[in-house]
Amino acid sequence: MSTPELNFKHVSGDVMRVLIVGCGGYIGSHLLDRLLADPQIRLTGWDPNTAKIMNHLSNPNFRLHQTMLSSENELRAFRQEARSSDVVINLAAICNPSEYNTNPLSVMRSNFMEPSRIVDICAEENTWLIHFSTSEVYGRTLQSYVDDTSYDDPSLFEFEEDTTPLIMGPVRNQRWSYASSKQLMERYVYAHHKQNGLPFTIVRPLNFFGPRMDFIPKRDGDGVPRVLACFMAALLDRKPLQLVDGGHARRTIVSIHDAIDAIESMIRNRGKAENRIFNIGNRDNEVSMAQLADLMIETFISVSGDETYRTHPVENVSGQQFYGEGYEDCDRRMPNIDAARTLLGWEPKTALRDILTETVAYYFDLYGRNSSDSHASPVDVPEPAAMR
Ligand code: UGA
Repeated sequence: MSTPELNFKHVSGDVMRVLIVGCGGYIGSHLLDRLLADPQIRLTGWDPNTAKIMNHLSNPNFRLHQTMLSSENELRAFRQEARSSDVVINLAAICNPSEYNTNPLSVMRSNFMEPSRIVDICAEENTWLIHFSTSEVYGRTLQSYVDDTSYDDPSLFEFEEDTTPLIMGPVRNQRWSYASSKQLMERYVYAHHKQNGLPFTIVRPLNFFGPRMDFIPKRDGDGVPRVLACFMAALLDRKPLQLVDGGHARRTIVSIHDAIDAIESMIRNRGKAENRIFNIGNRDNEVSMAQLADLMIETFISVSGDETYRTHPVENVSGQQFYGEGYEDCDRRMPNIDAARTLLGWEPKTALRDILTETVAYYFDLYGRNSSDSHASPVDVPEPAAMR
């Protein structure tokens, strides 16, 4: 990582004041682990949920508002805090695809209406805002409209922050409720920058994987999480891993720790990170969801030592069955990460197999050890093993 610049607005001594909205979620919890290791950082957070950050609650350098940031009272308190902060990081969002077409109004409120107040306040207080957006703002690739099978021309599938068009499906496909809210939010941040001088950084994450991601249904949450937790739950429950629409969609997987390196580098190098958008992803870790399912099973066997998983089933489901009406997928997300490389000196380092080993071992330790003996032979396994 490059040498930190200390060009903060309110630097007093060497202390840096960071405010994080949504500090109790997956990314927030890892960011707290990293930032609170530095005794020069004073952190204030907003989040009603503390399950993932219990280890930090007694840290004198961390102050938590354990509530949603939505009432007028809380927004007033937020303004006070933002005024004396060096940076505000906004992580709060509903970002599970299972909600995009089933609960689109909440998705739009949480991804546009509520954060727009945060952006307004940062602009009024002239406080640097690092806003977490999503790679979904790119929507689908040009390639998916040209030719479904050939992926040879990078200009048709590679996503570059400032030049790639943002392509979304029709309004009836409510999958895009999230991506279009996030896109509008980016435009809102940018408009505040152009009209009112708001200093900003926008982050577009591409599938950060690691411990504490989402929740494991029936264990620490309910509903349908993202693919990593869906596959993990299926393995723990000895249920088939489900491939949506054949598992052809591809994603690039980046380690949460590599991603946190990038965010830390932004925080410590404001001059390089300010007033631009960054893709944060790992080009070397591209997989189809069918390949990911195989790798997860393989990893589970090596972590658990349970060879009965050799025949663990994978089955196909349609997007309609899995997510309900109005689901449409992003076919492929290959990020151009030149901006993060050149400006932040960042390079993702962790190979997909290592990311999966760490994450599967984490969940196996938490939820798998006790149940593995009682399931010495596979249960709930339909025959024959489904195709993918
Ligand atoms: C989600 C969010 O919408 C993004 O904002 C976020 O940036 C991204 O996660 C992320 O983790 O970075 P997406 O990658 O589509 O986007 O979410 P997943 O639920 O992880 O789905 C990935 C792929 O796996 C999709 O093609 C989905 O259909 C498939 N899938 C999901 C399965 O095949 N089986 C499952 O059990 C679950």
